[in-house]
Amino acid sequence: MGICMKIIMLGAPGAGKGTQAKLIADKYGIPHISTGDIFRANIKNGTALGMEAKSYMDQGLLVPDELTVKILLDRVAQEDCKKGYVLDGFPRTIPQAEVLDKELDKLHDQIDHAIDVDVPDENIIKRMSGRRACVSCGATYHIEYIKPQREGVCDECGQELVLRDDDRPETVGRRLDVYHEQTQPLIDFYGQKGILKTVDGTQDMQDVFHAIVKILE
Ligand code: AP5
Ligand code: MG
Ligand code: ZN
Repeated sequence: MGICMKIIMLGAPGAGKGTQAKLIADKYGIPHISTGDIFRANIKNGTALGMEAKSYMDQGLLVPDELTVKILLDRVAQEDCKKGYVLDGFPRTIPQAEVLDKELDKLHDQIDHAIDVDVPDENIIKRMSGRRACVSCGATYHIEYIKPQREGVCDECGQELVLRDDDRPETVGRRLDVYHEQTQPLIDFYGQKGILKTVDGTQDMQDVFHAIVKILE
């Protein structure tokens, strides 16, 4: 597909941003960029960035804007992003969104769609405790809803599946609070720009995806 699309995925932790972003990226041949995945890769490789990010992530807090913005801007400046991208987990604060806008502005460019995957808090808790994530490629599964072919093993790359450190129930509550305080205001932010679309994220994963494809086409 030769179209250039820049998409932002909004939604609470566990709403399915990553699951849907991956489907979008595969269908349209654009990179899937998850700041959470970038941080986790750094943690796994023991980098200084990873150590700093981990101290916030394990508490369910956001990594400071300065750090996050720099990483994201470096990533979207890479060659493969010329054909567009789907951002998953960025922006997460109004200042992050403003920096992104400013950078795109300089290039006479803009975000095309902000898609809010809407899931109530009650459903979130259940999803998180059942989630298993690949230590290597970031692919996500669920022990009931989205099972891997072999238990505990990633379909994509054959590596081990684990419960994320920040998916413990105590931390999930904190992440939800942080979401409502710092990230939810982005829904109005993009609403005012006229590019916000909301999908019902409580549906089956494929139904959510169909709703998103309708929006994009
Ligand atoms: P990040 O990795 O972005 O985590 P998050 O926003 O908390 O979101 P999740 O990845 O937990 O959920 P998701 O919406 O991707 O859902 P998923 O598809 O996996 O960030 C982690 C941390 O990094 C943050 O807390 C913060 O500290 C830091 N960070 C990252 N970005 C930052 C930024 N910009 N600024 C500052 N700090 C930042 O789905 C969840 C589960 O449900 C899975 O098991 C999945 O299989 C299942 N599922 C998905 N869809 C469905 C469905 N339709 N029905 C049933 N089950 C489903
Ligand atoms: Mg995710
Ligand atoms: Zn994998």
